[in-house]
This record gives sequence, C-alpha cells and structure tokens, in this order.
Amino acid sequence: MDDFRYVDGRLFCEDVAVEEIAREAGTPVYIYSKKTLERHFKVFDEAFSGMPHIVCFAMKANSNQSVVGTFAKLGGGADVVSGGELFRAMRAGVPAEKIVYAGVGKTVAEIEYALNSGILMFNIESEDELLTIDETAGRLGVKARVALRINPDVDAQTHPYISTGLKKNKFGIAIEHAMEGYRTASALSNIEVVGIHQHIGSQLTELGPFVDSLKKTVELVARLKDAGVDIKYIDVGGGLGIKYLDEDPPHPSELADALMPVLEGVGCTLIFEPGRVLVGNAGCLVTKVLYRKATEVKNFVIVDAGMNDLVRPTLYQAYHAVKPVMKKEGPEYVADVVGPICETGDFLAKDRTMTVPEGGDLLAVMSAGAYGFTMSSNYNSRPRAAEVMVSGGKFQVVRKRETYEDLVKGEALADFS
Ligand code: LLP
Repeated sequence: MDDFRYVDGRLFCEDVAVEEIAREAGTPVYIYSKKTLERHFKVFDEAFSGMPHIVCFAMKANSNQSVVGTFAKLGGGADVVSGGELFRAMRAGVPAEKIVYAGVGKTVAEIEYALNSGILMFNIESEDELLTIDETAGRLGVKARVALRINPDVDAQTHPYISTGLKKNKFGIAIEHAMEGYRTASALSNIEVVGIHQHIGSQLTELGPFVDSLKKTVELVARLKDAGVDIKYIDVGGGLGIKYLDEDPPHPSELADALMPVLEGVGCTLIFEPGRVLVGNAGCLVTKVLYRKATEVKNFVIVDAGMNDLVRPTLYQAYHAVKPVMKKEGPEYVADVVGPICETGDFLAKDRTMTVPEGGDLLAVMSAGAYGFTMSSNYNSRPRAAEVMVSGGKFQVVRKRETYEDLVKGEALADFS
C-alpha cells in the first residue's frame, strides 16, 4: 500500500502532483511519502506489540535524514553497518541505546566511535572481530555489549546476491560453532554478551525461511541458557519482501503470527531490522524523457536517470514498474527505458508496453524508496539526484541535487608532476 495515485490522469504523491515537484526540484528526483513511511512503521511496530521489541530501521535501505528522523520520532531505532550510518542515525535523532551495529568489516575507528556513542550492541560476524572489539573496549575502559550473528544455513529463496544465511555466504558465525563462540565471548573481560542475531536475506516472500531460522536461533538460546549465558535480545534481522510486480509477500502481521509461537516463553526483547518493507513502496524516482530511438530490433526511451541513480535493475535484474506522470492517449509500443550512462547494462526497465512518450514527458519509476538513492553513485560524473519528502499537500527538498562543484569537492590537481 502506498500513497501514489492518479487523479484525472495525473500522478499524485499524497496531495501533491508529482509533475509540480519535478518542475520545482528538477529531474531525476526521488520522492518519498511521509504518510506511507509512518503507516509502514506503525503497521510493523504494532504487529509485534504483543512482545517487548525495538524496530531498528535498516538504514542501508534509505539513510536520508528526514526518512530516518520520521522513524525516530515514532520510537524507531536503527540498524547500522558503518560509522557513516551511525553518524547519520544519531544526527537524525535515533537514541544510541536503540542502535545495533552489524557488518563483517568494522574498523577499529568505527568500533571506537560506536563504543564512545554507547550503542545498544554490536552484531559480531567473526571471532577476529570479537577479539578486536574486546581489545578496543579494554583500551577505552568500557564494556562492549555484543550479540553473535549466527548463520543458520537456511535458504532464504531470494536472489543469490541478497541471500545471506547460507554456509557459503560471508555473514555470521556458523550455527555449529555458535556455542564455542559464546564461550569465547563470555570469557573476554571487556565483552558483555547480551544478544543473538540472525539475518538470512532480503526480499523474502515466504514465511518458511523466517520460521526455520528463528527456530534454530531459539533452540540455541535455550542451550546457551543451560550453559549459563543469558541472552536478553534476539535480533531477528530484516528481510521481509515487498510487491514490485506480482510478488505476494506476507503482511507484517502474518510474519508476527508465524514468529510469535516460536518465541513463546523465551523472555527476550526482540529486535527487528526491517529496511525495504518500510521504505520501498514509499518512494519513486521521477525521470524525464530525453529522446526516443529505434533500432531494427528494439525501441528505446532514453531518460535522464541512469544506473548511477538506481542500480537495482542493472545489478539484480530487478523489476520496477514505470508509470507515466501524466497519462495520455496515443499509440502504444514496447520499449526499453534506458539511461544516459555509457554501459549496455544501463537500463531501468526492459520490454515495457507504454504509450509512445515524447521528449519532456515524465516517468515515475516505482518502488524505488529502498536501495535507490543509497546505492546511487557519481558514475560518469553525474551529480546525484535530489530527494523530496511529501507530507499531505506540502513538499520539501530533503537533499539538494548535487552540483558540478560537489563532484570535485575534496579533489586536488596534484602539483608535483
Ligand atoms: N539487517 C541486515 C544485517 C542486513 O544485512 C539487511 C540487508 C537488513 C537488515 C535489511 O534487509 P531488508 O529488510 O531491507 O530486506 N541492495 C539489495 C538489498 C541488500 C540487502 C542487504 N542487507 C537490493 O537492492 O535488493
């Protein structure tokens, strides 16, 4: 469910015409609906209201200050994977005690930053990392709260690039070695073991993998308890999928109904790390048609957004619906929507049936609120797009379009040659 809809053939985000935003903010532009963000957060949060829990938004999906701040105001925490995300989370008003920090490659500087900030816990991905955190905490004279990220070896049945819970993936500590890992962690003098973490993948559309994985984790929590290790937090991870085309992912309440029985009696606070499900359908990317081109075998619609703005189609062959911002009558044809980047892989959509567009027409690439702007780059020296947030009848630029000067910020012409 989102708040993009047509009124008399014109696409609106809440009560604002998308065309008006494009006119003022230019294109390409990401547009987010505050109402959708708030609704998605509340639906997720309320689904688990039967148990103590914290919803830690996975900031990698969308780290714009206004987006993160919207969730923080509703009581949300953050799942961060870098010092940069930690900085953004706190700057947007997320309290440190609601921040969890995952990722296989935390640097000492990042660990120090997180320890000094007083985050809720580190989700540890390897024994080497554990030892580094212990040493760093010792040096700073603090205790580091940690959870071990367990790799349960469960097939998330999703795109291989976004599946993380299999033995062959680089994430977490194999479940068979978990007891050993916890024994090591408990013996370290600057470590306080507080939790357990799992995350098996992204864009999951079935409940089975969530349930299978959580069962394994809960069994482990019981064994740990017997061994004298008290687990206060079970971090269930993120991964709930959304509808891009014809997927039928479970509703958060269905996820809750499936997980609650598994968690009965465990007496832990739950942590969730949803990313995509909160923001994916709350945003779109609006782009302008530049040219039409036809070869003997294909029609192309060339637009002003490219793979540097939205890389998901290129990287995962992901489907994003493309809608006209202004519906019009006219002949239809089948075309690829492609960007200006000098790569064959630079496409936003393939083989779509559409009313033949004219130069200047606006198209909205839907479901682009998650892993859209955050994965964008300056490839081909293209300034990154503006971001706009809409609330009711108002809208505001929440990230300015980059300028050419921004492109060379921090660069120097070396003077020693
Ligand atoms: N927690 C951890 C530890 C994660 O690694 C991720 C995502 C999440 C939570 C949030 O997962 P979500 O609820 O958004 O599915 N760029 C890819 C997705 C990569 C996901 C990486 N990890 C895409 O565009 O599909």
